[in-house]
Amino acid sequence: MKIGVFDSGIGGLNVLKELINSYPNNIYYYYGDTKNLPYGDKNKETITRLAIKIINFFIEKKVDLIIIACGTVSSTCFNELKQITSIPIVDILSGTINYLNNSNLKNILVFATKRTIESHLFRNSVKKEIKEVATPEFVPMIEKDEIDNLIIKKYLNNYKDIDALVLGCTHYPILKDEFKKYLCDDVLIIDMGKILVNNLNLQNSSKQEIYLYFTKIDNNLLKNVNKIINCNYSLKKIEK
Ligand code: DGL
Repeated sequence: MKIGVFDSGIGGLNVLKELINSYPNNIYYYYGDTKNLPYGDKNKETITRLAIKIINFFIEKKVDLIIIACGTVSSTCFNELKQITSIPIVDILSGTINYLNNSNLKNILVFATKRTIESHLFRNSVKKEIKEVATPEFVPMIEKDEIDNLIIKKYLNNYKDIDALVLGCTHYPILKDEFKKYLCDDVLIIDMGKILVNNLNLQNSSKQEIYLYFTKIDNNLLKNVNKIINCNYSLKKIEK
């Protein structure tokens, strides 16, 4: 099966990694729009335009399934994207929202991009005590591989009484170990990519092929890709 996975940058690779772990033998196309990141600070019109371009790329590749491995795109224009193609599209947020609603968790903190937080999708869809916090410094920090613990501490110090922290942006699993330093041991850290993959029911094909496409490539990107993806892949720059 051919599966298209996309994000603004490397965040969606955390989702791709989970997909490869569960379904190693498939043909994966990954699109990271590194030239235009971060998406989280952009308006709806811009995010929708960029995402439509990516969907068209996957249509050309004739994929069987598209996975929006980006919280920001999922919270901004999932419905618009569904309307432009008959290829099945899965968003990254719905599975986590269902999981939270069916859980015994009471006090939930959501970290996500400004755009996702402003959609209030978590607060409006989850019938629990939800605190939504925009953490706009995190994506640039992760993409540049310059993790600043003081910034992370500043955010987490304010929230002592929580049962769970939702990583509402697919870049954030990269900071999981840093988050743990400032959280009590019993706080559950929720990775949306793991939930999405648990909910899928795909078939394995006979071989593995992984094609990674980015709109901008530099040394940091190559380093970051190798930290996340531990199997053979081909990596290319998208020229258009
Ligand atoms: N990884 C993305 C998300 O899940 C996008 C982050 C960004 O580009 O701001 O929201």
